[in-house]
Amino acid sequence: VSKAELSPPRGTRDFYPEDLRLRSWLFERFREVAHRFGFEEVDAPLVEHAELYQRKAGEEIVDQLYHFQLHDRHLALRPELTPSLARMVMARQGALRLPLRWFAIPQCWRYERMTRGRRREHYQWNMDVWGEPDVTAEAELIAALFAATDALGLAPGEVRLRVNHRRLLEETVRPRLGGRDEAFGPLCVVLDKLDKIGAEAVLEQLADPAGPVGLSRPVAEELVAGLAARGLPEAAKGAAPGSPALAELTRLFELLDAYGLADRVDYDASVVRGLAYYTGIVFEARDAAGSLRAVAGGGRYDRLLESLGGRALPAVGFGFGDAVIHELLEERGKLPALPRRLDAVVYPFTEAERSAAVQLAQTLRARGESVELVLGSVKPKRALADADRAGAVRIYLLGPDERARGVVKVRELASGREHDEALPKAPA
Ligand code: HAM
Repeated sequence: VSKAELSPPRGTRDFYPEDLRLRSWLFERFREVAHRFGFEEVDAPLVEHAELYQRKAGEEIVDQLYHFQLHDRHLALRPELTPSLARMVMARQGALRLPLRWFAIPQCWRYERMTRGRRREHYQWNMDVWGEPDVTAEAELIAALFAATDALGLAPGEVRLRVNHRRLLEETVRPRLGGRDEAFGPLCVVLDKLDKIGAEAVLEQLADPAGPVGLSRPVAEELVAGLAARGLPEAAKGAAPGSPALAELTRLFELLDAYGLADRVDYDASVVRGLAYYTGIVFEARDAAGSLRAVAGGGRYDRLLESLGGRALPAVGFGFGDAVIHELLEERGKLPALPRRLDAVVYPFTEAERSAAVQLAQTLRARGESVELVLGSVKPKRALADADRAGAVRIYLLGPDERARGVVKVRELASGREHDEALPKAPA
């Protein structure tokens, strides 16, 4: 192995014990919140049918696919979980109790150009509701998202959510698409790039006669200008009279008010999201300063199942990555210190004490304690120093003298205090 190969492939991570403790801490918070909201955990394979992701809307995620041909199969590492969920729902459609509340914490793979908080693998907490067309589902999901940032120790002002409704946009552009309804997804994908590539490049893509959107330049300009709207009153100004999308957004804010969360959420016309399958309300959570990429993102995708060949079923959900939240917690000094938990080390001085040591270790383990049994022959000084380094609470010192008396010497490592304890009886 060359020196360069000691690092994992670029954009991927090794998890040493201290890293894994932190990851487990994070996942436990996700799981705990999901359970509080009555969601059940699911998972799907890391390797999927590549065709699940072959959408033609110009989404980045499709170009970033890790995929390969094996025998006659075209397979891919999942870049996101949503299409797998759709496959799972479709496979049991008709037999599932709706609305379905499912959560998962999959590792996802995207061959990204690496920037801060963007990596080639990440874990993503997913929360999805299937089979509920009403905006009460969005409200419940947003409440769960904030329950997680709260559980992670972030103050209410530290993460904000921006929401929009794709149908508000659609109401304005549909008459201009000349019946080409399929151009709406690609249009959203292009608008989502505004921050990244700038207004001029976005206008060019929207108005490219050979592109999938093909708007006239003035219409494209009007559309991009409209992205500056902030706050519901402004949204109302741009909306068609009696707009159902606006009514839904207004209802969402009323519901969020009941959860005590309305003041953490803003209407923002520039949030469109980069995935083509969203059809309704979309949202993104970011750090209040907006200096990091999105902590979480989601929305309603009522037509994904149909697009994969299933029967129509409304759905809404979000994905919440592990990488950005880690950066935010670190920046805020809120990553917890998670020392290793080791209750005891059991040390037989010589092989003559080995079976008594084994019985002692097994007795302690049966009580649920975390116990390291010293393996092989080790000098007492080294065994003590090593137990200290491991962060053990106690060490059980078992020498010939103790064994003869049927006891073991217990030393509390922090205080150095010692006492004798009776050895457990050998099994009959
Ligand atoms: P997404 O916006 O692509 O949505 O990803 C959701 C979150 O996953 C992002 O906000 C970010 O925290 C994290 N994430 C995504 N890509 C990366 C990356 N390369 N490195 C680090 N973190 C990343 C989806 O994937 C949708 N499937 C979410 C969803 C579920 N929508 C409905 N249900």
